[in-house]
Amino acid sequence: MNSKFYITSPIYYVNDIPHIGHAYTTIIVDTLARFARLKGKEVYFLTGTDEHGQKIEQSAQKKGRSPKEYVDEISQKFKDIWDSFGISYDHFIRTTDSYHLTTAQAAFLKMFEKGDIYKGKYEGHYCVSCESFFTKFQLKDDKYCPDCGKETTILEEESYFFRLSAYGDKLLRFYEEHSDFILPKFRRNEVINFVQSGLEDLSITRTTFDWGIKLPKALLDKDPKNEKHVMYVWLDALINYLSALGFCNDLEDRMDFWAADYHIVGKDILRFHAIYWPAFLMSLDLPLPRHIAAHGWWTKDGAKMSKSIGNVVNPKEVVEAYGLDCFRYFVLREVPFGQDGDFSQKALIERINADLGNDLGNLLNRLLGMSAKYFDNQLEVDCVQLQAHYNAEFTQISKVLTGLEDSMNAVQIHRYLEDLWTLFGLGNGIIAKKEPWRLIKEGKKEEVAELLVFIANLLIKSALCLSPCMPKSAESILKVFGLEVDSKNYQRFVVQGELLGTMHLSAIGVLFPKIESALLEDTPKQEDKPKHLLQDSSSVPALEIANPISKEDFAKIEIKVGTVISAEELPKSEKLLKLQVDLGEARARQILAGIKAHYDTQSLIGKQVCVLANLKPAKLMGQISEGMILATKDEEGLTLIVPQNSKKNGSPIS
Ligand code: MSP
Repeated sequence: MNSKFYITSPIYYVNDIPHIGHAYTTIIVDTLARFARLKGKEVYFLTGTDEHGQKIEQSAQKKGRSPKEYVDEISQKFKDIWDSFGISYDHFIRTTDSYHLTTAQAAFLKMFEKGDIYKGKYEGHYCVSCESFFTKFQLKDDKYCPDCGKETTILEEESYFFRLSAYGDKLLRFYEEHSDFILPKFRRNEVINFVQSGLEDLSITRTTFDWGIKLPKALLDKDPKNEKHVMYVWLDALINYLSALGFCNDLEDRMDFWAADYHIVGKDILRFHAIYWPAFLMSLDLPLPRHIAAHGWWTKDGAKMSKSIGNVVNPKEVVEAYGLDCFRYFVLREVPFGQDGDFSQKALIERINADLGNDLGNLLNRLLGMSAKYFDNQLEVDCVQLQAHYNAEFTQISKVLTGLEDSMNAVQIHRYLEDLWTLFGLGNGIIAKKEPWRLIKEGKKEEVAELLVFIANLLIKSALCLSPCMPKSAESILKVFGLEVDSKNYQRFVVQGELLGTMHLSAIGVLFPKIESALLEDTPKQEDKPKHLLQDSSSVPALEIANPISKEDFAKIEIKVGTVISAEELPKSEKLLKLQVDLGEARARQILAGIKAHYDTQSLIGKQVCVLANLKPAKLMGQISEGMILATKDEEGLTLIVPQNSKKNGSPIS
């Protein structure tokens, strides 16, 4: 088995700031890279920015900046967002990096010397926006770009050409022999049809603008007029995949990573990767990538995203509001890989509450709650007995785990997650069936311990498999059992099926607090507000403030956000519930709240609340209470005060 694994994202154009489409591609690559590391492979994950071309030159001009100043700024924005998302890239390439220039020129010269590049005249329909030439048959209504719909211009210029027409048969043979070269398979025919309809030679230099890589010195020496040519941006861009490995440049030589295992791309750039790129590589006598995997496009609430409509989803904002792992889960799970998907806040919240909160979060909470309550967090069972008593369930688990690898290899990450989720269903189902709370009452403590250890092992295995998709959450789950996400543990618990029989569980806060659907309601517009609230304050008399306090008085009060991690009734009390609330401190606080008539215990678990945190602890009904939960009351009843969206436990309220 090849232990080296090379995976790339597209390099992003720097004429736009990062949006959800870019984040989607990058998260897919990150997931595959993390999975390969988990399997013990040596991974090289490349991402970066595509910085040349007329479009970028024009964007810089519009902003009154030099192209270099402009690309430096936007490229940094891409790097910053991937860093803040914890994207595990190994190298960030910029096509303005000098080693890339060296590689691009060396590759151009090699293809020229091979006889695959020649000088000619080009007349064609050019789309500036897509940096692409089209034949007149490809145009929409004779003049519009088939990809973006913008008007094309007719360009005639001296140009160097790549003999793409010579590679049609070789490409078709390659597709035939490598049926999984293009993923998902339904995209394969599209490419094959395009090649079968006949390939024309490709114009690979431009003379109408400057912002690009010059031709190799050997060609400039041959003919000084070659100075006016710069390389076609797609040739320049595709070669980045070799530059980063030190091909013909002075970077460290990592060509032992070639051929790439996966180039992950959007469907719009599949043609460049599945036709032009393999032809260039054949010309360079290099092996071809193993897979080109093309994902679909995201729309927003059913509409195409566009800057002019102003509906472009900013991934940073989504992550700030809902958390990184929830965002990763949503984009990876919501849409079958290869298909288009729609981004809506409603769908995101539903997924978080149902899949993450109810299925996974609940299973973990139940395990933690019962382990603490019945076993003081210390569990010990005999693994041979455990295996024998839960044989059918372990067989089901190992069947699912084995299938996961195939799904990941085929970049069917939605299927991977779907299958993984059947395990949480299995765990929750078996708890419901066995009713451990009843078994405890019947004195069958050993049976309960075994059930909990079974759930713990299910969670260990599934958290390891979840880690490529949701790294932080998986890390937190494994921490409960004193384990880490690494390939050694993956080998032990997932591949070899090892079971953990003895464990001390460490409590953690609620991983996926429920998001209130009230968040979905639009903020009322100004005109919807009650009339009296719209009055100009200068025209109304001053209000009498009862019991005024100073800012200093208020500063004495510490109100913090916390998450309810357990809730139970106090048998002798009609009003009180006993809650454990995580305020981000060394341990959770016990708080007695007079809310029994308004909330049932189950609905409280996972809820974020506001807590008066520096109230002197007091004893109520013989139990200590270490804070006060804030609520409001009117004739319709009592409601807890909750933050509008999820906040870190311990966040101060001011
Ligand atoms: N620079 C080229 C790629 C060169 S690779 C050698 C490019 N850049 S891009 O910034 O325009 O697009 C990069 C990726 O973002 C593409 O894979 C594209 O499919 C993806 N997306 C851009 N908008 C998108 C959506 N609305 N939805 C999903 N992905 C989309 O192309």
